[in-house]
Order: sequence, then structure tokens, then C-alpha cells
Amino acid sequence: MCSIIGYYGNEIAAPIIVKGLKRMEYRGYDSVGVATESNHQIELKKGTGKVNEVNSKIQLDSLPGKIGIGHTRWATHGKVTDFNAHPHPSNSGKIAIVHNGIIENFEELKKQLQDEGYNFKSETDSEIIANLLQKHYEVTKDVKETILKTVSEIKGHYAFVAMFENGELAAARFHEPLIIGVGQNDFFLSSDVLGFIEFTDDAIYLENGNFVILSENKFQILDFQGKQAKYGITKVSKEFGDAYKGDYAHFTLKEIYEQPETIFKAGEKTLDAIEKTADYIKHAKNIYVTGSGTSYNSALIAKQILSKYVKIKADPIMSSELQFSPDSIEENSIIIAISQSGESADVLEAVKIGKQANCKIIGIVNLMTSSLAREADIVIGMNCGPEIGVAATKSFTSQLVILYKIVQKLSNDEITINFENFSKSIFKILEDTTKIQEIAKDLKEVSDIYILGRGINYPIAIESALKLKELTYIHAEGIAGGELKHGPLALMDSNVFVIIINPNDMTYSDTLTSAREIKARGAKIIGVSDIESDVYDYWIEMPKIDEVLYPISEIIPIQLLSYYAALEKNTDPDYPRNLAKSVTVK
Ligand code: BG6
Repeated sequence: MCSIIGYYGNEIAAPIIVKGLKRMEYRGYDSVGVATESNHQIELKKGTGKVNEVNSKIQLDSLPGKIGIGHTRWATHGKVTDFNAHPHPSNSGKIAIVHNGIIENFEELKKQLQDEGYNFKSETDSEIIANLLQKHYEVTKDVKETILKTVSEIKGHYAFVAMFENGELAAARFHEPLIIGVGQNDFFLSSDVLGFIEFTDDAIYLENGNFVILSENKFQILDFQGKQAKYGITKVSKEFGDAYKGDYAHFTLKEIYEQPETIFKAGEKTLDAIEKTADYIKHAKNIYVTGSGTSYNSALIAKQILSKYVKIKADPIMSSELQFSPDSIEENSIIIAISQSGESADVLEAVKIGKQANCKIIGIVNLMTSSLAREADIVIGMNCGPEIGVAATKSFTSQLVILYKIVQKLSNDEITINFENFSKSIFKILEDTTKIQEIAKDLKEVSDIYILGRGINYPIAIESALKLKELTYIHAEGIAGGELKHGPLALMDSNVFVIIINPNDMTYSDTLTSAREIKARGAKIIGVSDIESDVYDYWIEMPKIDEVLYPISEIIPIQLLSYYAALEKNTDPDYPRNLAKSVTVK
């Protein structure tokens, strides 16, 4: 996904826009650009790379004018080049646009416009919006009519901001997030509250299929039929503005170190919703748990702990796969949708399918103002504060704690979990990382890492592989211990490293046997366990804790190992290549 932003007010726009883009950079960081209007002239600067890099090279924040738009890109259509960077001007240069999402019928529209004499400088789908707006504006000379005609022609999921040389700004939303920030004497348009949270906490969440026009110091919100649309101003919690690294070198490391606190306060602001969820589950015929990426790995854990501790069957479903087997959802079921951002397109699509089957939707989200939070019947807040690092860390452990709290409710509190003590035990892992940093050094030249776990530790092996892939770009694969001999053992030789997730639970001895079999083929073994063993070439000691909580604690040293290995391999832990914090396009 990309980030889009617009400013309309009395201050010089460019510096404000650059600040907002910097805060939203985790949404996409292939290229960045700004355009402003002053004296009815549009000026534009853009380039490939991150906000600070490009800004120091071409001074994006020096553009004149009090009206402007900006963009950071996560490339979907067209390579990472200056030409494909946004903003895109129309052929006349009198309109410029920034866009997030995908225009599905762009080739057809591009052909039409080319037949009408328009030419295109980029490979993007976005540029057609600029020329389509020009085509309609030249006829109507009216921004409202121009937007209405344009949105009636484009298909797909999108949000765009358009700046006209007469100083009017307009923005439309269809499935992609778009928020209006209402300041004292100015207005902001942004993909995310982070884009303007520094300047105002009054926000209007534009409803789907609505657009806004900013002109003559006021705004009007209309729907795609041109009728006035209702809206409300929401006070955004300033907490989301606190996205600072502090003394940490990277957000990812800061967010790993926040876990003793975030584990303790996970779900604390929505305990009633946890109670209600447990009640729904008790009376439900079918329970599905869905998510993408790390959130899907939480769904795998949900299946395990619901069956293990309260004998309830739940089906984990990869959100991106549900659209290909919509019938697998039984009517009137429960869908627990897990998403840190609450904006992942695949998760929202899965929820849409669930709603069509009259399912109750329980959303477990971090952003309480997100699309998923607004779509769900019950919303449980992760309450772990902003997560900027693209690889999910604290949000994963918060999701697991919330799932455990639901299980606790379902067990009528027969299962007692002392999260306070537990979060203290996490400090032990975080206080001395020397050993983990040493192991990370030995991973510098490694090209293949396998992570093995059995039972409830298998989903943690999968999440561990994801962290290593996201942060180090090393090929990593989670293996179910019992499957080793049925194939993966063929991959084991002296070039590979194998991480063995081996807490002292019912899987311990079988997993140790697997470690012996792997060692016999010459592979290097990293043992993650609360029991030392001579099988391990490296032992990462886990604190002795209540067996129930092993899955939450055992991922933390792997997060640290992935982070330090990323530093060894000189990758950017916060903004891994080709990824984005949440993917709002399918
Ligand atoms: C990816 C992120 O884009 O989306 C992952 O890089 C994340 O870290 C996944 O797990 C799902 O995101 P969300 O917001 O739906 O939990």
C-alpha cells in the first residue's frame, strides 16, 4: 500500500506534507513525491528512495504554496523509478494526483485516453486518474462534476487526492482508507491519522464511496451520486502520535522491548468484548479464525489453544485464500478476524464474505478506528500502541494474550494465567542479548534456516520463519517436527542452520530426537529451550514459566535473533525491501 496526503490551509504546505509522509513511511517506501499550488501554478518534485533521502537530495519541503499533496509508494504497477513515482500531473499540468490502491480497468481507460490524444509518462495505473480528471474538468470546469464523472468510470479499490491549479483539493475513497484532519484554520487529507496527528486530533473517517472537496476555506462531503453525505468528527487518541524510536536504533527493537508492558495490557481496554466473544463462541456452531501474515499465525495458535484447553473446534483460514472457497463458511457462524492494522485488504474481503453468510464478526485489532473495527460486530483492542516496524512483533504477542484471555473466559477461569508474573519473565529474555547477538553473527552468510516445532510450537516455528524472512531475507521455513522424516530431512547438511523450538512440554523428547536426527546430517542446531542439551550447538535459554505460556515467550528470542541478524546483513529492520506494514490491495 502507499500513503497519500493533502494539505489545505494557511501554513506553507510542503514541510507539513513531508513530516506527514515521514510518519506514514511504513506504508510504502519505494519512492516519494510532493506537489504544491502557488499563484495558480502547480510545482512538483519526486524521486525514488525513502523520505529523508529524497528530501535531502531534492528539497521536497522547499516547494512554495499553502496547498499541496504528497505520496510514498509501494510499487504495484510499474518498476521503482522516478517516472512511476507520484504525484502524477495531467497532460496540461493543471491537475496533479496521488493515489493508493489499484485501478483494475486502467488499461482500457488508458487506451481510450490515448485514442483521444493523451500521452502517459509512467507505467502506473494511477496516472490515468490525472488525465481522466483533466478530460472531464475541461468540459465541466467544475471540480464536483469532474470527480463524479471520474469515479463513475474507474473500477477497483482506491483512494486519491487531486489538486487543481485553481487551488481546489478533492479526494475520493472506494475501499482504501482516507481520513480528513480538521485543524484550527486548515485541513488535512491522509491515508492514516499518523499523517496529521502532530497537528490535530479531530478526524473525519470518510465513508466508502464518498468524496470531499476543499475550496474557499471550507469542505463539503458528497457521495458518488453527488448528494451531501453525513459525517462525524472523531477525537483520535494522541497515543498514536507517540511513534518515536526513543533511544532505540530501530522501531522494531523498541517494539520488541515494549512486550513486557504490552503483554500485560493486551485487551485491557475491551474486557467486556472478550467476555461477549467467549459467550458467542460458547453458542456458536462453527468458529473460523482468519488473518494474513503474522495475524494468520495467531489464528493457528487459536485453533490449538481452543481445542487443547476448552475442547472447542475452530478453523484457521488464511484470509487471502477464503475468496477461493467461500462455501467453506457455514451460515450464521462466528468469524474471528485478526489484523494489527485493521486495513489488510484480504482480511476485509474475508469479513465481507462472512457477512454475506450472515456470520458474526469479531475483530481483534490494534487500530480501533480502522475499517475492520468499523465492520466488526465486536471489537477487541490489542492496546499495544502504534507498531511501526513492518515485521509484526508486539502485536503478535498481544494477539496471543487476547486469545488466551478468551480461552480463560471459556474455561470459567479454571485456567489461571498470571500475566503480571509472565511479563516479568520476559524481561529475563530481553535483559541480556549478548548470546543472541553472537549467534546472529554466525547467520550472516547462511542462506537457508529451518525452524522445527511440534504441537503448539509448530505455529511458532512458522512465525519464526516469517520473522527471519521479513528481517534478514534468508530463506527460512517452519517444519512440523513429525514431518521431518517425510521430506525436509533431505535438506539437512552442514550448510544449514536449524532452530529447534523445544520447551519442556509434552513435545520435548520427540523434538529432541528430531534434533539428533538433524545433527547426524551435519546441520548446526540452535536450541530454544528452558532445558540445556548437548545436541545444541547454540542454546538460547528460555525462562522456566507456566507451560501454557510457552508459545508467547518462545517467539521473543527469535524476534531478537532476526533483528540482530538483519543488522549483520545490513538490511533495514524497520522497512524491509518490497514489504509494507499492511497491504490494502488484494
Ligand atoms: C504484512 C505485514 O503486510 O501484513 C505483516 O508486513 C503483517 O507484518 C501482515 O503480519 C498482516 O497485517 P495485519 O495488519 O492485517 O495484521
